[in-house]
Amino acid sequence: MENISIILSAGIGKRMHSSLPKVMHPICGRPMVQYVIDAAKDVTDKVIVVISNKIDKSIFKDVTIAYQDVPLGTGDATKSALNAIKDASDDARILILTGDNPLIKSSDLKSFLSYCNEKDSDAALLTAVAENPEGFGRIVRNKEEFVRIVEEKDAAEEEKKIKEINTGIYVFKKKYLSYSLQKITPNNAQKEYYLTDALSILKDAGIKINVKRLERSLPVYGVNNRKELSLATKIIQQEILDRLMLKGVTILNPETVSIDYNVVIGNDTVILPNVLIEGETKIGNGCTIGPNTRITDALIGNGTDVQFSVIIQSEIGENCTIGPFSYIRPGNRMSKNVKIGTFVEVKKSHFGEDTKVPHLSYIGDATIGKNVNIGAGTITCNYSGLEGKKKNPTFIEDNVFIGSNNTLVAPVKIKKGAYTAAGSVITEDVPESALAIGRARQVNKENWVKRRKKDNG
Ligand code: UD1
Ligand code: CA
Repeated sequence: MENISIILSAGIGKRMHSSLPKVMHPICGRPMVQYVIDAAKDVTDKVIVVISNKIDKSIFKDVTIAYQDVPLGTGDATKSALNAIKDASDDARILILTGDNPLIKSSDLKSFLSYCNEKDSDAALLTAVAENPEGFGRIVRNKEEFVRIVEEKDAAEEEKKIKEINTGIYVFKKKYLSYSLQKITPNNAQKEYYLTDALSILKDAGIKINVKRLERSLPVYGVNNRKELSLATKIIQQEILDRLMLKGVTILNPETVSIDYNVVIGNDTVILPNVLIEGETKIGNGCTIGPNTRITDALIGNGTDVQFSVIIQSEIGENCTIGPFSYIRPGNRMSKNVKIGTFVEVKKSHFGEDTKVPHLSYIGDATIGKNVNIGAGTITCNYSGLEGKKKNPTFIEDNVFIGSNNTLVAPVKIKKGAYTAAGSVITEDVPESALAIGRARQVNKENWVKRRKKDNG
């Protein structure tokens, strides 16, 4: 039978106190709704996501988008998806989920759907027993039989004690969904159209409601506030770390490590404490990352060590060493065996094989060849401050030796094998194999101190 899912994701999420729509809040580098979409894609032929116009639909792949113009409640949101299922058969199974339930797995949905198949359900509800049911719709039963769902805000004191809650996951045959949605009214404390009322409406019309319990318990069945966001994040983070560890990554102190969902890490790489690896980062085999390091959207080659450093949108080659205390800003590319050392900031620069910038330097908009040594305290002066935001380039060719405390005033080119003297301000191109000295000659004034002391009595 045709299975279609609808994921309700157009609510504001008032309890988040955020300008970002709730389902867009990231968990391990992706919007929380993406986890629900993944689970739904696994078990249904078509996934419809109902969003508000505050959400950029381009982030969603291979789903059908429906818009809810005004967030008038979950019932109204579901109605907004009806147009997208109009071609489905009357008996098509419509699985409804909420976009704020990132811990739900396709295995949970699979067993719910096979239960619905077995029962040939016209309408079915997935419930759970929650230690703390506060905030959820409660399942009111008469003996065993389902009566209705009552929302926290509409519940009487006695009803609030019920621990069986609505997970927000339902299956309806299409014809019964369309029928009941037409009949929902906003007669409740929140003046909203509740999807939960669809079940009572069908029950009153003589349709049987099947109720199934979720087979495992979750720490959160819906993320409504930032506390629940952190609970969900903790679970998903642990799943990511477990997956990496089981594939051959050593993580020394997992409680202190955060790694995003899409990050790829090779075998025998060791992640030391206090490490954050984000976005689309890919790390090779046999690397040592950390302690105290943040890597965002970067590529790190095999055998590279990074410690106490920040790396953003850069490509680091094999067997490089970064840090301690390096700041690798966007746009850098490094070949193998490059060393970027202590208190070094680099930006939009290329570094050839075996090149080293070991200490206290700023290198920006530079193209540096192979086997170059940059002395401690070297600055590329790439910014004139007069030409808007324009940055001038520095070219340093193979086998160059830049002395300590050099100021390279760009645009400037230092050609193959040249040396620059310590303390130089380099304003002109340096020819191949030359020594450039760009500083005042030292003058020693004999006995100057003695004379001075005598004059001052
Ligand atoms: C809802 C259920 C509650 C259940 C809980 C499970 C209703 C009336 N209540 O409550 O019984 O226990 O989920 O998590 O359905 N949304 C829209 N448009 C709207 C309103 C909401 O798309 O106008 C979306 C939200 O983005 C969210 C989902 O629907 O992803 C659920 O909305 P939310 O406000 O979180 O519902 P709850 O109060 O948690
Ligand atoms: Ca919710």
